[in-house]
Amino acid sequence: MLNIELPPNDYYDGIRCKGKINMLSKWEQSKKKSNYHFDNFKNDSQVDKVIKLGKIIADYSEDVKHAVETAKPAKWGDLDEINSEEHLISKDYKITHLSRELTINTQKISDLFGLKNCTGHIYVQMPGNVWNLHLDSLINLAPEEPWNIMRVQISLTDWEQGHFCNYGNYNHQQWRAGDVTTFDWQNLPHSTANAGHNPNVTLQLTGIITEKTTDFLNRLKRFGDHQLTLKDNAWF
Ligand SMILES: [Fe+2]
Repeated sequence: MLNIELPPNDYYDGIRCKGKINMLSKWEQSKKKSNYHFDNFKNDSQVDKVIKLGKIIADYSEDVKHAVETAKPAKWGDLDEINSEEHLISKDYKITHLSRELTINTQKISDLFGLKNCTGHIYVQMPGNVWNLHLDSLINLAPEEPWNIMRVQISLTDWEQGHFCNYGNYNHQQWRAGDVTTFDWQNLPHSTANAGHNPNVTLQLTGIITEKTTDFLNRLKRFGDHQLTLKDNAWF
């Protein structure tokens, strides 16, 4: 891998060495907690992947409108569950826009999953936002049973060209609003960016799996999708 001195700019300002804190060595430390292969030229379909769980069907247009209007710029330091120092970028770099206020549909989705100690975030990734490569650090949610910690994403907007989402060496794309995904948060490095023309809006839920979660996931797996709201003509 190239080891070059980067010129200063907004994005890299926190990545380069800062005094005694060498951010690249922080990344090396972070990697030690993961069992990922970290080989840029290996494609292991069992590992380099996002797990597709099904689809939750609803009209998300009002949720998206509200999220876009209310989301505020967010930095690593604004995300309470993550230690930003582990993630190779300045705490001051704006990685996304964030709304913690769940809308009617997103609250219904959160209720369906029934995760214990659930945190719900709506990420509004504006054109130009870059959420740099990192590993999640969620273990403090349940140190005794980290395997029961789940993080799911529900897309609220359709994919567009210029929307990037990488899980290891896998590029996830062409998702539709309502698509539900999860991933191996303990091991898989990931990154996302918006080089497109419109916001990419995603609901993310993080919490501890309960019986309700398992029931809902089983139903989703069996039927492939779930209608969140009854259609006007549902009774006919
Ligand atoms: Fe992450």
